[in-house]
Amino acid sequence: MKAVVISAPGAPEVLQVQERPTPTPAPHQVLVKVHAAGINRPDVAQRKGHYPPPAGAPADIPGLEIAGVIEACGANVERWQKGEAVCALLPGGGYAEYVVVDARHCLPLPQGWSFEEAASLPETVFTVWHNVFQRGQLKAGENFLVHGGSSGIGITAIQLAKALGARVFATAGSAEKCRACEELGAERCINYKAEDFEEALKPEGVDVILDMVGGDYIPKNLNLLHPDGRLVFINAMQGAKGEFNVMQVMQKRLTLTGSTLRPRDADFKAALAAEIEQHVWPLLEAQKFKPVLSHTFLLKEAAQAHTLMESSAHIGKIVLLVD
Ligand SMILES: NC(=O)c1ccc[n+]([C@@H]2O[C@H](COP(=O)([O-])OP(=O)(O)OC[C@H]3O[C@@H](n4cnc5c(N)ncnc54)[C@H](OP(=O)(O)O)[C@@H]3O)[C@@H](O)[C@H]2O)c1
Repeated sequence: MKAVVISAPGAPEVLQVQERPTPTPAPHQVLVKVHAAGINRPDVAQRKGHYPPPAGAPADIPGLEIAGVIEACGANVERWQKGEAVCALLPGGGYAEYVVVDARHCLPLPQGWSFEEAASLPETVFTVWHNVFQRGQLKAGENFLVHGGSSGIGITAIQLAKALGARVFATAGSAEKCRACEELGAERCINYKAEDFEEALKPEGVDVILDMVGGDYIPKNLNLLHPDGRLVFINAMQGAKGEFNVMQVMQKRLTLTGSTLRPRDADFKAALAAEIEQHVWPLLEAQKFKPVLSHTFLLKEAAQAHTLMESSAHIGKIVLLVD
């Protein structure tokens, strides 16, 4: 099969198409013929050599999510049959014509959406569901803020929070990105390059913040949180270290938490998939939550896709068309 491999750590050009053996499913796995593979920012970190894949994942093929058709099932797989269309969360290996994946990490292709749209969902939906609704405990009627509102994560968080009854606020780096966030359901998106988000949101305050920025956003986030507020980190693109006032955490009874999805064990991801199928798939099928594709590229154009992602010019998801 053809696969995009990281030939050496480095710039997007290190992504090269090579021939690899088609994998064979273990008893608990399915083999999927990939039609489309989503691209996520962690793939860029892996390409640069900063985010090694967990044990068991392909060592040099990036790709955390795909959609395609089941080609074969392992001996213990009961739920799926050859020929069924699915999308799946992977620990790596998605930029390829075939992948093997734990059968429990597959979800049915949501009705009304294409393979490329479905391939854009698993990584961000699993991350947002766990961090915003499980760790952050966002409830209907609460105020929610997501930084990086136009990112793949951001467009997912805005729509799910809105669909489940929260008031949604976002930050993004241009007026165009802010307009897109507001069209997706944010009551207000602050262009952080033109306005201080803390000043802008002070009159409202927020209950839950999903933060991928870190650095000097940390004290600003804490200032904005209501009593019993929750701050959830999923990255620290501006720096992993920042100052905060412990008294403020105590006086407002704040919760600071965060997580990384990829190294979590297979049972955790299976439980998350089941919850997502129950709570998020009906929203997709009712068109209350939609995939947002910025650009699609061919498998052989993976380097261009990474260049676009690193430019941060995109709004929503970038997807590779494999088949
Ligand atoms: N913890 C987890 O389990 C997990 C899982 C998946 C993703 N993530 C993280 O979630 C974030 C979003 O991922 P994604 O795939 O959705 O990314 P993405 O679509 O590439 O979006 C990232 C956005 O962040 C903003 N940005 C880029 N560099 C920045 C910087 N230095 N400071 C502040 N903002 C910056 C840019 O928008 P602006 O123009 O608005 O700045 C950019 O569009 C990434 O940091 C990723 O590593 C974490």
